[in-house]
Amino acid sequence: MQITLKKKIVLGVTGGIAAYKAAELLRLLIKAGAEVRVVMTPAACEFVQPLTFQALSGHRVYTDIFDGEAESAMDHIELARWADLMVVAPASADFIAKMRQGYGDNLLLTLCLAEKKSIAIAPAMNQQMYANLATQENLKVLAERGTLIWGPNAGEQACGDVGLGRMLEAEAVLRLINIHFQPGKLTGKRVLITAGPTRESIDPVRYISNHSSGKMGYALAQAARQAGADVTLVSGPVNLAAPPGVQRISVESAVEMFDAVMGYVDVSDIFIACAAVADYRVAQQSQQKIKKTSDQMVLSLTPNPDIVSAVTGVDEPPFTLGFAAETENLEQYAADKLSRKKLDMIAANRVGNSETGFGTDSNEILLLWAGGKQLLPLAGKPEIARQLIDILADRYAEIN
Ligand code: C5P
Repeated sequence: MQITLKKKIVLGVTGGIAAYKAAELLRLLIKAGAEVRVVMTPAACEFVQPLTFQALSGHRVYTDIFDGEAESAMDHIELARWADLMVVAPASADFIAKMRQGYGDNLLLTLCLAEKKSIAIAPAMNQQMYANLATQENLKVLAERGTLIWGPNAGEQACGDVGLGRMLEAEAVLRLINIHFQPGKLTGKRVLITAGPTRESIDPVRYISNHSSGKMGYALAQAARQAGADVTLVSGPVNLAAPPGVQRISVESAVEMFDAVMGYVDVSDIFIACAAVADYRVAQQSQQKIKKTSDQMVLSLTPNPDIVSAVTGVDEPPFTLGFAAETENLEQYAADKLSRKKLDMIAANRVGNSETGFGTDSNEILLLWAGGKQLLPLAGKPEIARQLIDILADRYAEIN
């Protein structure tokens, strides 16, 4: 299939035997209609001559951070701004480590520091170097920061080893570039999500909370991001890393979550209330640790604001999805919550068993909206989140 790719791409090449695959990738990109500028590290020039890339791209190849001539053609900041996407292929273990640390001792690294849009890297190295904990940790940190990690593949390596570490083939990288540019169903939409539990202080050392792990809300944030949305995730205390490309705002109490959410409602197209917000907080938080006495202890509680109802109560509310965690009469309670909280959709899940709900990795959801319902059968939370975002996006498009 002939693909047209009217995009501006910076192709970064680092030092590794797979550098020859970058020449093939460049040829495919040019054939697809992309405009490409090539930046090579000094080590890459040891493997393939810059002239090869110059001939294929029809443009001067950028190799030197202090190259006066290249600087006058387009300086490195300008080059970073020019690109719709930067693809580093192959990305060596050394380059990945330096990128993670924020080094800028070659032109390609300075570009990575200056690039505000997406950067994709295609790792290529010996399987032992790839498996090394340092490399794995570097890749994890980069992924958390939003870098797209493409590959590697398993197979025979130039050194004779067999294992994970081969760079993806040029066709596979081109396919991923294309997928990256395909507009998702929520492209350009701003999605606000609450996730996790809230923590209500009793005194400086104790609090009231619940078993919410945040896994569902985080999976939804990731799925919404993958569908092209700008995602803001207001999260209670959880043990999860923010999904790549998602803006996270960390809060503790329901009141803090309320304040954070209300600050974003005006600029949100869609609101997903996935947090397990504590219904009550301690009326009078003690400034000092409460001492144990033999007497019975009574805590006086006061209601927390209902965040989702406050959101649907504003003048022009965003499209709102709420959650209902129930142990019985699932559909009936959920339908009641849909209308009482003026939601556009509600995702009901049964809690209190070992497979679904709080803390589990899987979920089963009954999705309800005015005039419709759909069951999302038992699956992993990322898969359920993907399906849910897909249906939500269709419903949002229908009524907007
Ligand atoms: O009333 P209930 O707590 O069962 O409603 C659950 C839904 O309401 C969820 O979407 C939850 O995130 C939201 N909620 C909220 N603020 C509260 C309580 C619940 O946003 N204080």
